[in-house]
Amino acid sequence: MCGIVGYVGSRDAVVPVLEGLQRLEYRGYDSAGISFKNPEGKLQVVKKEGKLDNLRSVLETQKPKTSIAIGHTRWATHGHVNETNAHPHGNDLFAIVHNGIIENAFELKESLQAEGEKFHSETDTEVFLVLLTKLFKQTGDIKKSIIETFKQIEGNSAVVILNKDENKLYAIKRSAPLVCGRRSGRESGELFLSSDPYALVGYVDRLFFPDDEILCELDPEATFIHFYDLEGNATEQFQKEARSTQETLSTKGEFEHFMLKEIHEQPFLTKQLAGFYSEGVGKELLDRVKGKKFDHINIIGCGTAWHAGLVIKNILESELRVKVTIDLASEFRYRDPVLEKNELALFISQSGETADTIACAELCKKKGLTLYSIVNVKGSTLYRMSDENFLIYAGQEIGVASTKAFTNMVLVGALMAFTLKGEDAIKTLGSELNLLSDKIEALLSRENELKIIAKEIFQEKGFIYTGRNIYFPIALEGALKLKEIAYVHAEGYAAGELKHGPIALIDEQMVNISIVGSELFEKTLSNTEEVKARRGKILVVGVKENSKLKSISDFYFGLDFDGLKYFSPVLVNVVMQILSYYIAKEKGTDIDKPRNLAKSVTVE
Ligand code: F6R
Repeated sequence: MCGIVGYVGSRDAVVPVLEGLQRLEYRGYDSAGISFKNPEGKLQVVKKEGKLDNLRSVLETQKPKTSIAIGHTRWATHGHVNETNAHPHGNDLFAIVHNGIIENAFELKESLQAEGEKFHSETDTEVFLVLLTKLFKQTGDIKKSIIETFKQIEGNSAVVILNKDENKLYAIKRSAPLVCGRRSGRESGELFLSSDPYALVGYVDRLFFPDDEILCELDPEATFIHFYDLEGNATEQFQKEARSTQETLSTKGEFEHFMLKEIHEQPFLTKQLAGFYSEGVGKELLDRVKGKKFDHINIIGCGTAWHAGLVIKNILESELRVKVTIDLASEFRYRDPVLEKNELALFISQSGETADTIACAELCKKKGLTLYSIVNVKGSTLYRMSDENFLIYAGQEIGVASTKAFTNMVLVGALMAFTLKGEDAIKTLGSELNLLSDKIEALLSRENELKIIAKEIFQEKGFIYTGRNIYFPIALEGALKLKEIAYVHAEGYAAGELKHGPIALIDEQMVNISIVGSELFEKTLSNTEEVKARRGKILVVGVKENSKLKSISDFYFGLDFDGLKYFSPVLVNVVMQILSYYIAKEKGTDIDKPRNLAKSVTVE
C-alpha cells in the first residue's frame, strides 16, 4: 500500500528517497512521485503513473540537485490512478505526501470550495494541503498550521510536509505507520522518515517511532528530531530503537521470485524457531505467560493471518478447553462485540500495520483486555500496542502473497497455546518442529510433481479447495493464494458444506483440490466422490499411498504425515503454496506484486 520516504541532510536527497521507494515497491502501488526544493528555492513536484522506473527516467533527465525531498508510492483509494492524483500534492508553499484516508474530506472540501479555494485532484490528500495553506497564510506559523489542519481531519493518516522556506521536514500521524531515522556521524546530520523502517535499512543507526498525534520536526541543523504534542509543547512521546546497520536487504538469490524463495525458507525457519523460544527474550516471554488463565480468547486478523488464526483456534480450544472465537478484523471493529476484562485479545499480523487489525487492538485496549500479538515486524504499530508480542521470526516477507509468515504464525500460535496450558512448549513441540522441517524439505524436493500438475490444470475454469476440520483453514488459504497470484476464481469450502450449495458449480472444467487427511478420512472421501460423480476434476492432497484416494483422483499428491500430531495442516499448506506458484507461473502473472494488491493494508 502507499509508501512514504523523506530525507533531509548533506547528500543528494533524491538518491535515498528513490532507493527507499524502491524498497517499498513490494507493498503495492500504482503511481509514484517526489517533491524537492530546486536550486532556485522553489518546490518542484515530479510524478508518474505506473512503475517507479517511469519516475526514475524523468529524474535521470532532469538530474535535480537538492538536499531535501519527500517521495511517495500511491495505491489509489480516493480518485483514479493518474498523474494528477499521484502524490506529492503541492503548491508554491508546501508539498505533502499522505498515507491513509481523510474520512471527512468531502465535507472539508465543500466548505473550502465555498470559501473560494481551488482543487485540482480527486484526492482526500489535497484537502490537507489546501487547508494547511489557508491556515498558514492566516498565521504565518508552520507548526501551528500543521497541528490545526491535522486536528480537523478525521480517520487514520500519516502526513509529511515540506515547506518552501525551511530546510526541515514535518510529519504527523494517527494510527498509521511512521518512523523517523537519524544517521549520526555526518557533519551536518542526516534525517530520514518513512512509513516502513525497511526503507531506511543501512541509512540510519537510530529509529524513532512517534506516538499518534505527535508532530515530528526533522531539522538537520540541529541534527535532531523534535517532537511536539498537539498544544505545540515539546514532548518525549516517541519510542526509540537502536537498529543495527548490519541488517540486510532481502534479495531473491537463486530464485526467480521472492515468493518461491520464501517458500523455500520454510524448513530453515521452522527449525530455527525453537531456538528463538528456548533462550533469551523468547524464553523470558514464555516464562512470563506460562499458565496464564483467560475466560475467553478473541482471535483477530485479516486474510492469511486470519486463516492462521483458524488453525491456532483449533489448537487453543483442544488444548486449553477454553472458549475461543475468531473474527475478521474488518467485521469485529464494527459489530459491537461483548468484551470482558479477563479476556485475551490475540492479534495475528505479519506486518503489524494492518489498519483494521490495529483498530481492533485499540478497541480491545479501551475495553481493558489483555493484548497479545503474533507478529513478524518488531517495532510495528501492533507490536508497540500489545502487552506481549510473540514474534514469528520469519524475516522480511517481500512476496505480496504471504507464505512463510503463515507457517510461522501457526507454529508460534501452537507454542503460545501449550505455554498457556502450563507446559514447557519447547519440550512438547520441539521435536515436531524438527520433523515438520524435514517433511517440508522432502516436499520441496518433489516440487516438480506439482509443477507438472499445475501445467495440466492451470487453464481450468475454477478451483474449489475442500477440507474438513483442521484442514478447512488450509482450503481457505489455498484458495486465497491461488486467487491472489493467478487471478483465477478459487473458493475454499468445508468439504461437508459442498452439497449445501457450491456443488452446483461442479462440471468437467472445475477442479476440486481435496485435502484428505487421516482424520474424518471416510467422510472427506465421500464428499470428494460426490464431486467426481459430477465430472469435476479431482486433485487429492492427502495421506500417502492410499488406493482409495488413488482411484478417485485425476491427480494425487500423497503426503507423509507420520509423526505429525499438530502440524499436518502446515505441511499441506506448503503444497498449496507451491501449486499456486506454478499455476500463476503458467498464467504469466506478476507473482511477487500481483495486480491491485498491497503487502500491508494500512487503510480500511
Ligand atoms: C495474503 C495476504 C493478506 C494478508 C492480510 C493481513 O497472502 O498477504 O491476506 O494476510 O492483508 O496482513 P497482515 O498479516 O500484515 O496483518
